[in-house]
Amino acid sequence: MPTIVVSSPMPGRAVGSLSSQGHQVISGDNPAGMGHDALVACLREHPETEAVISLLTDKIDAELLQAGPKLRIVANCAVGIDNLDLAELRARKIVATNTPGVLTDATADLAFALLLDACRRVSEGDRLVRSGGWTGWAPTQLLGMKVSGATLGIIGFGRIGRAVARRASGFGMSVIYYDAHRAPTEAEETLGVKYAPLDEVIRECDVLTLHCPLTPETRGLLSRDRLASMRKGAVVVNTARGPCLDEQALAELLTSGHLAAAGLDVYQREPQIHPALLGLQNVVLAPHIGSADRPTRERMAEMCVEAVTAVLAGRTPNHVVT
Ligand code: DGY
Repeated sequence: MPTIVVSSPMPGRAVGSLSSQGHQVISGDNPAGMGHDALVACLREHPETEAVISLLTDKIDAELLQAGPKLRIVANCAVGIDNLDLAELRARKIVATNTPGVLTDATADLAFALLLDACRRVSEGDRLVRSGGWTGWAPTQLLGMKVSGATLGIIGFGRIGRAVARRASGFGMSVIYYDAHRAPTEAEETLGVKYAPLDEVIRECDVLTLHCPLTPETRGLLSRDRLASMRKGAVVVNTARGPCLDEQALAELLTSGHLAAAGLDVYQREPQIHPALLGLQNVVLAPHIGSADRPTRERMAEMCVEAVTAVLAGRTPNHVVT
């Protein structure tokens, strides 16, 4: 029976079902995944491996694919595919899949949690209370941004961007968005959103939230100049990918007070956090938990297992990205 390498322990029962089907499953025991080098070593030790279930932190490149001469599928347990070298996968006729759709609401929820926290200074207040520094209700304490009535700018208007727009409408926000592919008028009307060019969205919003994939076009998209062009007192939320945003510039603009606050779930060099951000009170730092509600993560694992099972049975899986 085929050998399947699974980068980390997975929630739910799906991965366990692979062994009960008789497959040889080699599972990494680090919750954060094997990572590139350990995966390469594992494939060299098990050159018979036909499938890998990878995490977004596992760089799947030519060296790794070379180490697995029998590989037929890489099932990436994420919607983002910026860790995959698609050209190399295609060249070797290895199928790659991802897990779109299932994590839309979870990620939109987390984006909104960060938005509310950053605007209303919840984590900052929590730290104040725990430190024993809270001396009682004060009219001037921890004043933040009024969410209802504020303008939300959404960059990237796919499934997650639209789910965030739906949440924003429930909070009485106006929404403007930018996407390389403008949404159909009907969708704009249903969601009550307005399209605007990228730089206009950045300049005109009170809160900006990123929902684009990391591609060569979006790397560094929220540059120093663009961040500086935002309204004074604006808030930035990023649950997309860290390299879409200039962290150094963000930290400087948060320090100078040009930007009021930020809520981040993703970083340029995870799990390292830019030291300038770590020192700031007005940034909420989450540990890349956008999709981390239990049913979502269990379903992501199931989708990977379904894709692997399909390919090993000679069928075309869902959500092929190669
Ligand atoms: C993804 O799927 O790409 C998220 O970043 C993690 O779930």
